[in-house]
Amino acid sequence: MIAKETVDKILEAARIEEVVGDFVDLKKRGTSLIGLCPFHDEKTPSFHVSVGKGIYKCFGCGKGGDSVRFIMDHEKYSYPEALKFLANKYRIEIEETEQSPEQQESDNRRENLYIISSRASKFFQETMWETEGGKTIGLGYFRERGFRDDILKKFELGYSPESWDALIQKVVSEGFKENALEETGLAIRNDKGKLYDRFRGRVMFPIHNFTGRIIGFGGRTLKTDKAVPKYVNSPESEIYHKSNVLYGLFFAKKAIRDLDNCFLVEGYADVLSVHQAGIENVVASSGTSLTTEQVRLIGRFTKNITILYDGDAAGIKASLRGLDMILEEGLNVRVVLFPDGHDPDSYVHQIGSSAFKTYIEKNQKDFILFKTSILLKEAGNDPIKKAGVIHEVVDSIAKIPDNIKASVFIRECSSLMQMEERILITELNKLRLGKYRKDAKPDAPEPLPPPVETDLEPAARDSDNAQEREIVRLLLNYGHELVHWDGITDTYIAPYVISNLADVTFDDPVCKAVIDEYSRVMELGELPSVQDFITSPDPKVSELAITLVSSPYVLSENWYVKRKIYVRNETENMRATILGGIFHLKKRKVERILHSIRDEIQQETDADNQAILMQRYLRVKEVEKGISAYLGSVVIK
Ligand code: CTP
Ligand code: MN
Repeated sequence: MIAKETVDKILEAARIEEVVGDFVDLKKRGTSLIGLCPFHDEKTPSFHVSVGKGIYKCFGCGKGGDSVRFIMDHEKYSYPEALKFLANKYRIEIEETEQSPEQQESDNRRENLYIISSRASKFFQETMWETEGGKTIGLGYFRERGFRDDILKKFELGYSPESWDALIQKVVSEGFKENALEETGLAIRNDKGKLYDRFRGRVMFPIHNFTGRIIGFGGRTLKTDKAVPKYVNSPESEIYHKSNVLYGLFFAKKAIRDLDNCFLVEGYADVLSVHQAGIENVVASSGTSLTTEQVRLIGRFTKNITILYDGDAAGIKASLRGLDMILEEGLNVRVVLFPDGHDPDSYVHQIGSSAFKTYIEKNQKDFILFKTSILLKEAGNDPIKKAGVIHEVVDSIAKIPDNIKASVFIRECSSLMQMEERILITELNKLRLGKYRKDAKPDAPEPLPPPVETDLEPAARDSDNAQEREIVRLLLNYGHELVHWDGITDTYIAPYVISNLADVTFDDPVCKAVIDEYSRVMELGELPSVQDFITSPDPKVSELAITLVSSPYVLSENWYVKRKIYVRNETENMRATILGGIFHLKKRKVERILHSIRDEIQQETDADNQAILMQRYLRVKEVEKGISAYLGSVVIK
């Protein structure tokens, strides 16, 4: 941990106008400084910095905080990372506390590995730019491939001499320890105990972590001999964990954030070429298949990924599945295909930067729609294959955590496939329930049946379950939408529904739990998020939420059809849908009260008491008539 005194020193030194000023052009306006907000797109400045208070606040997007918060938000750093960034800016030495001797030693060891990696990179660069062999072979190779010097310098590319121990000799003579070289994998010890350089006669691509420190290398051979591996890479080490590193991220992150999109390519060469073409928001997964950690890393900067594919059909099909993982992380995925035989590197060199940019603009496709059309084309008119396509596509859609987005895709894919929307919805329901069953603990109760199988005829059931569930379904699906009805505006559907049902008691414990949660959160002035119910620790609540949100129409279609009311789409007449839900529930509750009064009357022997009960019955009956009339006039149209 960073010592309290150090934190205080940093906070004292880090003047808000200087910290923000490094990233935002600030102008004086009255007592504060203002500029264009770096966190959202704007043309007129609404980003204020108060020097006196040491804070910033954007009146456009609402972001605000102190110097540390600014660095955390802007650079996507954690709190300690931001403190270290500021300490470095103000040349404050960081004192750490509460470190065990082991922790301290491990930190020192890691620090050593960073230092030696950076030293090695300097050596590879010097070799390339300053030695005869390096200039003709290494630099010559890069230039021949069309890389500009400024790109070679920016990415700190280099060349490792054709020698067994040039690097070892160099750095050991400067006092570096052999075992540090070994731990980074820059040197390898053979069976006889002799140490030799891992990288020999290769052009060198240093790999930076996202704060810009070198943590490993990729070395490409210049030989065409197939027996020589094309790339030799640093092994995993204490500072290099391949699964959470993206090549180029350090140089790309600003552009990724500014453009709110990240291009993903396969190789080092692709990153360099695309970057050189002026498209700087580009990273590579470097040969390995993309990991969740890498996707989350990108997710710190943007929610949009565009994959630039090599145009090889077999490869594309094979990788379609892997991309579902990106959807699962809640990111939007687009893909761009290049003509056969081209990768981004070769294509940009062939057609030039501006044509390349246009190509990407014109050819990017949403991943799910792309996948659908590829699979559809393949299936042709074969109905069995076509069924397989539905399954595959809905499988991807089911991975999207955002239900609204998922239902948009359901709609678009159903039209692409010329398939009724509800077929896809049913499939989606099945998948979600299946996943839920798999995830649920073995002793979890049997989940409720999916809504399509639910008996919706209220009279046939001895409970108000169907109506109660309908209310919960409406809340979950539409609670966040604004009401735009005559005389009622500026309120969301959820509070409207809840306040209209204040006099109703929910019998079903799961429905009641959801309603209670709505009331609780709304009392705090917020709207509960659907996601909270879906991920609820109570498996019954979660199950109900999943069932109800993944079937926006199924339930209601039955509902209306059984009442011979034909509404093509419930959202077309939201008012009828919502009021229908509310008043059907009220009607049901009133009917049950009437029923129980009738029972009482039958059992009552005293004539006076019977008369009293009869009075009550008639009063309630009036209420029921009112509700029915209301339903008839307002809802059932
Ligand atoms: N890769 C690797 N080992 C290999 C081949 C590839 O680690 N033997 C990784 C590298 O990170 C490489 C990426 O996979 O950048 C993509 O491979 P490829 O397209 O062959 O490499 P490029 O970088 O495009 O190399 P070049 O264009 O120079 O052939
Ligand atoms: Mn390539």
